[in-house]
Amino acid sequence: MPSFGVHQDAIPGFVRDTWFRAEKVGDYYGQCAKICGKEHAYMPIHVKVLAAADYAQWVDGEKKKMAALADDPGKVWEAAALAKRGEAVYVANCAACHQPNGKGMGPIKPLDGSAIVQDADKTKQILVLLNGRAGGAAPMPAWKQLSDTDIAAVITYTKNSWSNKTGQLVQPSEVALARK
Ligand code: HEC
Repeated sequence: MPSFGVHQDAIPGFVRDTWFRAEKVGDYYGQCAKICGKEHAYMPIHVKVLAAADYAQWVDGEKKKMAALADDPGKVWEAAALAKRGEAVYVANCAACHQPNGKGMGPIKPLDGSAIVQDADKTKQILVLLNGRAGGAAPMPAWKQLSDTDIAAVITYTKNSWSNKTGQLVQPSEVALARK
């Protein structure tokens, strides 16, 4: 990169790094400094330098694009895949309080055998997850920061785990509807 005054040899299959400090925003182009093969003249080396705020905005946009790709909120899931995903969400977010066996402890109510979890009206549990609950001795935190898919998955998991055998499935679209 002549403009940055840096040069780094690269070897296929090896990660190499270097650093520089770019002082002006803009597009910069590098040059291959070895006669490396028949496409030597056409190696695309492009560095786009952005101001910190613009970079943060770009990262934010890319993250949103990735999230949108990962989870189509309109996707209709089948039971096994949804429950499997829900188990991972449960382990990461719920098990510390409600315990891996769903029995809770102290003021943390059990999900195993819970009337809300087993209720045929799925909206009840969706709303507990989205809004949390002030609770008696301890509050249930709100989980609206989780995606519709993650909330649908964890509810489906709790509705079909331990002694809960409801056979019910919650789709992401049902969570999206309850958010409004
Ligand atoms: C910081 C601890 C904590 C975490 C983490 C937590 N909960 Fe809770 N949860 C509670 C407490 C406390 C209550 C009881 C509130 C009350 O008294 O009504 C509760 C209640 C509930 C209820 C209602 C149960 C009933 O029968 O009334 C459901 C459903 C529930 N939690 C699901 C979840 C799920 C799913 C997760 C993970 C996404 C989760 N909770 C994470 C503390 C937690």
